[in-house]
Amino acid sequence: MTRFGGQAEQVVVPENQVHQKPERLSFEEAATLPVNYLTAWVLIVVMGGLRKDESVLIHNSGGGMGLAQLDVASHIGATTFGTSSPGKHDFLADRGLNHAIDYRSSDWLPQLMDLTDDRGVELITDPLGGKHWKKSYKALRATGRLGMFGISTASTGSSGSISTTLSLLKSLIGMPFYHPLPLLNKNLGVYGVNLGHLWNEGDKASVWMKEILTGAEEGWINPHVDTTFSFADAGEAHRYIEERKNIGKVILVP
Ligand SMILES: NC(=O)c1ccc[n+]([C@@H]2O[C@H](COP(=O)([O-])OP(=O)(O)OC[C@H]3O[C@@H](n4cnc5c(N)ncnc54)[C@H](OP(=O)(O)O)[C@@H]3O)[C@@H](O)[C@H]2O)c1
Repeated sequence: MTRFGGQAEQVVVPENQVHQKPERLSFEEAATLPVNYLTAWVLIVVMGGLRKDESVLIHNSGGGMGLAQLDVASHIGATTFGTSSPGKHDFLADRGLNHAIDYRSSDWLPQLMDLTDDRGVELITDPLGGKHWKKSYKALRATGRLGMFGISTASTGSSGSISTTLSLLKSLIGMPFYHPLPLLNKNLGVYGVNLGHLWNEGDKASVWMKEILTGAEEGWINPHVDTTFSFADAGEAHRYIEERKNIGKVILVP
């Protein structure tokens, strides 16, 4: 096993999954590939099946996961919508996001519906969880898919604290149940992604990683590292993320 130092959480990768670092990336930039870009690939390409003639809504598009998905969706040629704090919109436009939505000062759902003539989009990737997944589901147009991959709504403080346990419970209670009949009648699909449970699929992950590395060599995979903190300042790094100051990845270095 090899440990990729780096992100706020360390990533443990089976040895046969370790590829050559692309020359044009720094070690910090390359550290974003095994988690952010691999998860983005599974969400957008493998399970999301996004096509050039489709639209995708990427929630929290200014975070590490958001930017990775934006690179992949833009390369496919799909129309991209993204929610983020407004201070990140100019940066996202420079990265190729077609429509930035400020979800902090007003509800994102009516804004998305206005932008899509009330049709919604074919793919939504949602790391927020809880009742937010119900809302994202409402914004799918026919043949739409909802990819669920996190429950950020439950992360309000240190793990194990009473407030975090309560918000996790609230999030669990708010989660939707998807009945097969409405899915069938509305031509919709839902799926979940947890990269941490995919390590038994090493052969597949290796193929996906090769495509990502090709993208990095060709320049359409462009990891953006917001800032680096030393391991000793890990607490400060977490505070920085919780205050939503980061655009792209925050990396821990020895
Ligand atoms: N399932 C998997 O395999 C997998 C893999 C990797 C990551 N994830 C999950 O994906 C989510 C995003 O990861 P990331 O690496 O993109 O994180 P990140 O780089 O820290 O970015 C997250 C962004 O989300 C927004 N946000 C929304 N709610 C938040 C909250 N309660 N606290 C802090 N930020 C919040 C913030 O931007 P704005 O305010 O601009 O929206 C923030 O910058 C996390 O929940 C993570 O656990 C899942």
